[in-house]
Amino acid sequence: MAIIIKDNVFTLQTKNSTYQMKADDKGILLHTYYGKRTDETDYSYMISMADRGFSGNIYEAREDRTYSLDFLPQEFPVCGSGDYRVDCLHVDLGAGVSDCLMFFDSYNTYHGKYSLEGLPAMFALEEEKVDTLELILKDNQEELYLHLFYGVFEEYDIITRAVIVENQTNREVRLSRVLSACLDMDHDGMDFIHFYGRHAGERELERVSLFHGITELRSTRGTSSHQHNPFVILAEKNTTEELGECFGFSLLYSGGFHIQTEVDQFHQTRIVIGIDDSDFSWSLQPGDTFVTPEVSMGYSNCGLSNLSHCYHNSFQNNLIRSSWKNKRRPILVNNWEATYFDFNADKLLEIAKEAADLELDMLVLDDGWFGKRDNDDTGLGDWFVNENKLGCSLKELVDKVNHMGLMFGLWFEPEMISEDSNLYRSHPEWAMVVPGRNPIRGRSQLVLDMTREDVLTYVKERLFAIMDSANIQYIKWDMNRSVAAAYSALLPRERQGELRHRYVLGLYHVMEALLERYPDLLLEGCSGGGGRFDAGMLYYAPQIWCSDNTDAIERLNIQYGTSFGYPMSSVSAHVSVCPNHQNGRVTPFKTRGICAMQGTFGYELDLSKLSIEEKEEARKQICTFKKHYRLFQFGNYYRLTSPLENPDFTAWEYVDKDKKEAYIGVVYTNLHGNPAAQSVKFKGLCKESIYEMWKNQEPAGTYTGAALMNGGILLPIPRENYDSCQIYISRKEENK
Ligand code: GLA
Repeated sequence: MAIIIKDNVFTLQTKNSTYQMKADDKGILLHTYYGKRTDETDYSYMISMADRGFSGNIYEAREDRTYSLDFLPQEFPVCGSGDYRVDCLHVDLGAGVSDCLMFFDSYNTYHGKYSLEGLPAMFALEEEKVDTLELILKDNQEELYLHLFYGVFEEYDIITRAVIVENQTNREVRLSRVLSACLDMDHDGMDFIHFYGRHAGERELERVSLFHGITELRSTRGTSSHQHNPFVILAEKNTTEELGECFGFSLLYSGGFHIQTEVDQFHQTRIVIGIDDSDFSWSLQPGDTFVTPEVSMGYSNCGLSNLSHCYHNSFQNNLIRSSWKNKRRPILVNNWEATYFDFNADKLLEIAKEAADLELDMLVLDDGWFGKRDNDDTGLGDWFVNENKLGCSLKELVDKVNHMGLMFGLWFEPEMISEDSNLYRSHPEWAMVVPGRNPIRGRSQLVLDMTREDVLTYVKERLFAIMDSANIQYIKWDMNRSVAAAYSALLPRERQGELRHRYVLGLYHVMEALLERYPDLLLEGCSGGGGRFDAGMLYYAPQIWCSDNTDAIERLNIQYGTSFGYPMSSVSAHVSVCPNHQNGRVTPFKTRGICAMQGTFGYELDLSKLSIEEKEEARKQICTFKKHYRLFQFGNYYRLTSPLENPDFTAWEYVDKDKKEAYIGVVYTNLHGNPAAQSVKFKGLCKESIYEMWKNQEPAGTYTGAALMNGGILLPIPRENYDSCQIYISRKEENK
């Protein structure tokens, strides 16, 4: 077992990391170690006890003025304990103030992984070494319990955490903040790496030095959001892609979140992470429990690439459940940028015919097929096929598409309602609008109250009816606005603070029901592009539309940022038309293909309008993707350059897990007269092996792994704006 318990010291061991806690003689659960794998020594000897000015002492410390929660490293700090740093729990036990003090009560351990009711959580596969520790804390005066869960994924250096609050008192307990995890570190000087952005410009990496005080990120938008991502990294100053210690924190949650770091007066660093508490309150009746979302913590002592691999591999194996996870994802063509709302069945079949000719796998019909929906002002909620617009039934269209040898996928935006819709006319109370006030619109639409049973029943009924009406194998689940001025007509005033979390639970409930009924459905997440790209969503949708920005060059940056915390098999990316619809840039067709192959590959343009040359290039791209999909979907991914630091080109690499083959994609972002030589070095190869190389499909010599990793390779000189190249190597023995 990866959990060792001795004298109330709890040590969790993964392949390369150790995590330790101790319930001390007062009963406080201290955090004593997280870092490079070590032994089970009780590391509390490293805590320096001293009487520190203005650091109060809990009653249980008696005369000992050196014992203060104001500086002690803790596992789950609570408000009202004399710890003035950011904390995890604010609970009103009846006095109208946040005040509790949690002491160690008992523990449980078992093989396998805990699950969380109604929420996404990582899971163990059979035969895998995964263990669970549950630590139970109790308030020193009231029957209020905390169950702290730890899932230890030995192989991946991942430790998951979640908390259940249990009210065993005989009266209501009110929560106003319940985060999922805290990590205390005994030093300062760390860097905070996070991923900020906007619509069409998601997940831009920013690395900042933490200072004495609080740094915080939050989404109050009801979704994880384009603006901030619920994945962050704490890294030592000297940590690079290949060297140094770093700690990752990924919240498996698709609603608003809150992450704070604090460097305190004693130069210690704390991070807390969980549900956004800005508009949060939760009423726990006697006997009730509250379950927090899960946090997945990753550790690497050899740089950021390795940390990314921990997340890529564990999410791919132990978070993504879809029956598609190990299959080649369909290469699809989506009609959105090809037609927007202006299509009928004939137009779609014209695109499908070209797709079949190019040997694509799927046609996806995007927005506009239902209700009255010829622009984005109307129709949301009316999930009835507009046969007048299509010119036939959905089944007839799908059958024809299937007959061409293609699968069929469909767009939905189930959480929304347009005021100009039959649904709104019959159920205005289903929209989340504050009574007597004008609604806040977003993209002219309102948000459905996903906390209501009747709304969930309607949404499921319509989804199921459409699914049952034709052979639909994929759904793109969209969500095109932020939640604002949220109000539910059914919740009493004092429970409106529960709405945002209940909304997310409603969303997860419908997605779970959909997948339970159609286990082979491929679900793609989307929220105005990548506005809900989070680990919670991956539990339902193995791929997520990464951004509405389909420009290959801007995508380099977006996909670079996304790669830190999410497997590339989840990054949905398409080749679109030029000039690009978002920024007007013109890039070579070849380059657009290479960028889209950094994720799940597809097209989003009118295939019937491709030139002969473009069609030829598309054929090559499709062939390359099919040939190398194992590398792209399951290979180890390396960022060879950063688009934020290298103005001339961006390069990335996939290496097969057995090091038999590797692929490098390069996109040039600058041109020079009389250019200097440019090169990259492979990573992750077997140094003794001999590899044969192809540059842009042309044979380019034979090299040892050592040469490719240490000497590197010269890149071809770019010949046009945004030129690109693909380099493929294969171990010589495999080519015989
Ligand atoms: C969002 C999505 C797009 C497309 C449109 C349709 O913006 O991100 O891909 O589906 O909605 O309205």
